[in-house]
Amino acid sequence: TYVIALPCVDVKDRACIDECPVDCIYEGERSLYIHPDECVDCGACEPVCPVEAIYYEDDLPEMWADYYKANVEFFEISTGSVPAVGSPGGAAKVGVIAMDHPVIAALPPQAH
Ligand code: F3S
Ligand code: F3S
Repeated sequence: TYVIALPCVDVKDRACIDECPVDCIYEGERSLYIHPDECVDCGACEPVCPVEAIYYEDDLPEMWADYYKANVEFFEISTGSVPAVGSPGGAAKVGVIAMDHPVIAALPPQAH
């Protein structure tokens, strides 16, 4: 899967959403998250992010290793949110999910 890391937090440019052929990039309060089971590893999102927040999981910089967990766990902890998130996917119909993974929620406001 691809992973969205720290640079997205409080930026949410959203250019990635338009590129994803399977609509698997979901929006939280402060960051977006890629659904690990829905992402087909096409890589289309990665080059369009203006702040270089998106990485293939094996290429994620070590300092952002927690963001793999954050992307995966976001879809576990947001299960039960209304409307339900998860496979079969489709981020557009879900809209903004009013929460973030704890790793991201705990960050101070990010000045970019
Ligand atoms: Fe975030 Fe970059 Fe997408 S800032 S919303 S990962 S284009
Ligand atoms: Fe979509 Fe990016 Fe995966 S465009 S399929 S989230 S690699």
